[in-house]
Amino acid sequence: MNWCLVAGARPQFIKLAPLIHALKKRGESFFLIHTGQHYDENMSELFFREMDIPAPHVNLEIGSLSHGAQTGRMIEQMEAVLLQENRSIVVLFGDTNSTLAGAVAASKLKIPIAHIEAGLRSFNFDMPEEQNRILTDHLSTFLFCPTQGAEIQLVREGIEDGKKYQGRYLSQRHVSVTGDIMADALYSFSARAADQNQKDKMKYEDEPFLLLTLHRAENTDDARRLKEIFSQLEDIRLPIILPLHPRTAKMLKKENIVLSSRIYVTEPLGYLDMIRLERKARCIITDSGGIQKEAYLLKVPCVTLRRETEWTETLSHGWNQLAYSAQGLQIGEALEKALCLDRGKTLWPAYYGDGHAAERIIERVKSWGNASL
Ligand code: UD1
Ligand code: UDP
Repeated sequence: MNWCLVAGARPQFIKLAPLIHALKKRGESFFLIHTGQHYDENMSELFFREMDIPAPHVNLEIGSLSHGAQTGRMIEQMEAVLLQENRSIVVLFGDTNSTLAGAVAASKLKIPIAHIEAGLRSFNFDMPEEQNRILTDHLSTFLFCPTQGAEIQLVREGIEDGKKYQGRYLSQRHVSVTGDIMADALYSFSARAADQNQKDKMKYEDEPFLLLTLHRAENTDDARRLKEIFSQLEDIRLPIILPLHPRTAKMLKKENIVLSSRIYVTEPLGYLDMIRLERKARCIITDSGGIQKEAYLLKVPCVTLRRETEWTETLSHGWNQLAYSAQGLQIGEALEKALCLDRGKTLWPAYYGDGHAAERIIERVKSWGNASL
């Protein structure tokens, strides 16, 4: 197979790493397109270095633009690259504008698409990610679901696995539950993250602390909401470490929001530092999709700064608490519940698989390739 992999934003580099390592192990040929959606050293290059991801074959260097302009330019440039490269499958990750652009470019050229993290839904159509993931799923040939719930959602939308007849597939759709590829990354880089322990300790790291991340448009782009979040965080007793996303940094500056002295702000961190802090945190407060999952995988309680989550399994048994109640944003209340969780005794089903999603994905695509010859 001639694989083409598309990534452009921080969480996609993390999802890409296990797949690239598995492809390399099998001697598969791949071509990597970086869209350039994220471009700061600590939002992009750092992950390639830490996770041993080979340099992209091409970087489209699209950068930050409005949604339409960013996605449109990516589509145009990706089409040109795909026409030159003659690849037999395009692999897309998650739900960013880079994902949607890859889906449109590949489907117009009739190149089969494999979507990793298919079937996730927040049912909040205002989120750009919800639009991206629905459109991408509906354009994909291979839908790799992290969980059973995601597969069921695809069935509800009329996307079902095609049956094989006399060695050939009858339908264009191939749906499988593989486990979550972020679990692959977490399990395989955990030991390295622990080794980092001795180096460059962060302020508050050796005492009980909370880890905070915040970058969703719905939280950052509404100044009133952003102020409300930080005002509620003022009332929290524990110190907070905040690796600050550039989007949020920009908004805090624009709105002149001054943070409490108990919030220790750092630049965005590398994956290994991040995993180390996640593991040590008393609780993680976040609006990130990936970090909600990592909190669950590491058995660390989490408070999600959103009204809903697509990672609904994390809510069962109380590992994850939504910060919104009928009374609106109530971070303190949610945190109290999260901190009461008995980590040793609370049920923890392995919803996100065993850390071997990448191998399953490659197997499934290859078996299709052989059957359709
Ligand atoms: C994007 C994804 C989001 C994902 C997040 C991961 C979309 C619609 N959103 O959101 O789903 O959760 O990435 O982090 O695709 N910026 C920099 N340097 C960078 C990158 C961004 O300064 O390297 C700043 C720019 O001011 C930019 C802003 O951050 O305008 C937002 O970047 P963008 O990629 O548009 O969206 P994210 O919020 O990062
Ligand atoms: N992450 C990181 N450094 C940071 C913040 C996040 O390495 O400073 C990692 C985090 O551990 C997770 C991924 O980035 O693996 C999540 O990405 P992000 O929150 O940007 O996006 P989302 O998952 O919400 O799309």
